[in-house]
Amino acid sequence: MNTPGPVLGQLPPAGSGLAGSHDVLFSFLFWVNVFFFVLVIGGMIYFLIRYRAAKNPKATQIEGSNLLEVIWTAIPTVLLLVIFGWGYYVYSKMVRAPADAYEVRVIGKQWLWQFQYDHGVTTIGELYVPLNKPVKLVMTATDVLHSFFIPNFRVKQDVVPGMYTSVWFEATMPGRHQVYCTEYCGAAHSNMMAQVIVLDDEQWNGWLRGKKIEIDKLPGLAFSALPVSAHADSGGNAAEGAPKLTSLAERGKQLSQTKGCVACHSIDGKPGVGPSYKGRFGKEIELADGSKVLVDDNYVRESIENPNAKVVKGFSPVMPTFKGLITDEEMNALIAFIKSVK
Ligand code: CUA
Repeated sequence: MNTPGPVLGQLPPAGSGLAGSHDVLFSFLFWVNVFFFVLVIGGMIYFLIRYRAAKNPKATQIEGSNLLEVIWTAIPTVLLLVIFGWGYYVYSKMVRAPADAYEVRVIGKQWLWQFQYDHGVTTIGELYVPLNKPVKLVMTATDVLHSFFIPNFRVKQDVVPGMYTSVWFEATMPGRHQVYCTEYCGAAHSNMMAQVIVLDDEQWNGWLRGKKIEIDKLPGLAFSALPVSAHADSGGNAAEGAPKLTSLAERGKQLSQTKGCVACHSIDGKPGVGPSYKGRFGKEIELADGSKVLVDDNYVRESIENPNAKVVKGFSPVMPTFKGLITDEEMNALIAFIKSVK
């Protein structure tokens, strides 16, 4: 189950598609470091002994060498460019989610992780994902900086209040995987843990329909004996036959009525006081100043909390701010709704 790391068993299990390419790069960096450490420190020790005062009482004058200068400039330059190119390649794979990725909305707060799914379920401390399918996490924080880290998947991303960051992975190992918060966020920072529950097709479809998953029986957490968050198991498993869930987008639709959005924003494409929601998400729009902006999670959020920042061309800056009036959970639902108005 372990990938052979630079030193066998040093790296946690490789549980995602990305982990393999990450580990090869890591091994390369590690061994390049070992090589140059031995070369430089070994050379230093050799010269210390070879030219010690007892053997070499009169200092030797050494003239420069153009050949040497060229060699020790060219080799590190090529090496650094290789490391940059390789690192960039792996990094860009890590940050660019496939368009068809299953999306989960993550909220970090002191001191727990909360997950909102499209079909309306919210879980705390347990992130349920399908096996062998790309999953994109769209993350924000309610209070301070946190950082979402899944060592087995080799992904880590800061989670920031007031904006969205994202990370994606394709889990290739069923069972449970540890999640840590890796940004110091206050007294219980080290307890701010969660686990990723990777389910095969059958389990995943069952879970989506509200079937209880006995996570204690799933394999996992092999590399860490640390307890998972005390908040775990507080709502992920809706009882079978429970009332039908309201999807995230449906909840957002209700909110758009109670918060008054629909008074100015239509869903049928007709412009009102403000632009229509229809077909907006994921596309570029032109602003009053002629510049263009992509309508994504961050743009929608900014437009709700600070409506005058980027006003769409042809509309007046008349919308009041909703900052502080909409929780992160509600914001996620509203965004899911606007996204769903195709
Ligand atoms: Cu959240 Cu550390």
